[in-house]
Amino acid sequence: MSKLLKILLFLLPAVLHTANGHSLAQPFWCYWSKADLSDMELIVPAIFNKINYAEYNSTLGKFVGYTELGIYNAERFNNDPTQLAGLKDSVETVCKPNAGIYYSAILSKTVEPQVKVKLVKKSDGTHPARLMCSAYRFYPPQITVTWMRNGIKVEGDVTSTEEMADGDWYYQIHSHLEYMPESGEQISCVVQHASFQKPMEYKWDPSMSEPDKSKIAIGASGLVLGIVLSAAGFIYYKKKASGRILVPT
Ligand SMILES: *[C@@H]1O[C@H](CO)[C@@H](O)[C@H](O)[C@H]1NC(C)=O
Repeated sequence: MSKLLKILLFLLPAVLHTANGHSLAQPFWCYWSKADLSDMELIVPAIFNKINYAEYNSTLGKFVGYTELGIYNAERFNNDPTQLAGLKDSVETVCKPNAGIYYSAILSKTVEPQVKVKLVKKSDGTHPARLMCSAYRFYPPQITVTWMRNGIKVEGDVTSTEEMADGDWYYQIHSHLEYMPESGEQISCVVQHASFQKPMEYKWDPSMSEPDKSKIAIGASGLVLGIVLSAAGFIYYKKKASGRILVPT
């Protein structure tokens, strides 16, 4: 390794692209998982042409090298107390204030799901009926959907999808319950979400499937009306046709 090549510059966060296709990236990554930001960690890697040579890790309080060149330079940077102190300060001055902004602007926001319970498959007496409980347009994605039958949590016969991203920051989820209907029973879908003060219960009302019957009735009346009208039209056409005098050619 030539002496010249050995010195890596540590720039401020930047991405440089040179004309002949090289890239140098020095992103500023702030990682944390606790709401009080106490576990905030700053990582500043030096990535040249997609290779991570070395990075600053605030938990270690120093640079770590990953290649020969990176290790050489990490040692060099680690002998510069001013640079190390400046990066350590960035945890407080850059990471935490920015994380606070994201908390108040995004992470602390909750949007209530819109929940619907509907019958997907009726029971024919031998095969179970299937209900679907759908929660739409909620945030954050963490949600719990369970079923209650006569006040007792249903353990089996429940299948649930993952929380699915709508692509616009909202999520949806669908839970299915298979059961043999019994008269006088009470079935409900229970949804727990950060936007609710307490778990919300959505009762399944079998009379809600009545619109299905009225749809069938409307469809059937339409069909009968259509048959009557076409028959009337056909008879009218036949009468007209028979009234015509056919001239032999
Ligand atoms: C930073 O260093 C700590 C302590 O060794 C380690 O637990 C953590 O995984 C490192 N972070 C990254 C992103 O490598």
